Amino acid sequence: MTKNLSDESDVRAATAPFQAEFPYERDEEAQVTRREFCNFLGLTSAALFVGAAGFAAKAAVDAREAVSLPVARLGDAETLARNSSLNFNYPTERDSAILIRTADGAYHAYGQKCTHLSCPVYYSRDHQRLECPCHEGAFDATTGNVLYGPPPRALDAIELETRDGQVWATGRKPSTPTNGG
Ligand code: FES
Repeated sequence: MTKNLSDESDVRAATAPFQAEFPYERDEEAQVTRREFCNFLGLTSAALFVGAAGFAAKAAVDAREAVSLPVARLGDAETLARNSSLNFNYPTERDSAILIRTADGAYHAYGQKCTHLSCPVYYSRDHQRLECPCHEGAFDATTGNVLYGPPPRALDAIELETRDGQVWATGRKPSTPTNGG
């Protein structure tokens, strides 16, 4: 006949033989716990370090890949009138960009996303500068630098080359903060 373990005294009585064979001191248990905790902290720190190193390595690889962008001909650039612009996509179809031909006939191109909150900028023929309609930011058409407004940095530059009278996009150069942003 079996007796149910119904309360604390029953459980203690039932486990007493095992406690006698496998004794432990609560202080020692606490020491082991501290040691285990220290080991845990060490392992966690090592794991975080390895993770951070992995991210840094990936960023370095991505940065290296960023310089090898496709070369693309901007087909309508040659017929673009002076002091005007046209939109294109570079380096992918999802990346809108803007080509500007200034009054002196020079070409400049930039990513079209404003560096403030990503509204698309446009070329103002009247003011001969790039303007952002969202918060009245403006950029220099020949450098992409911020003229005024909230944008924290210049527009990303699209690198151009002219070959036999044809205009080609050859790379994209992210800008760096200029207004402390
Ligand atoms: S998004 Fe261009 S100024 Fe704010």
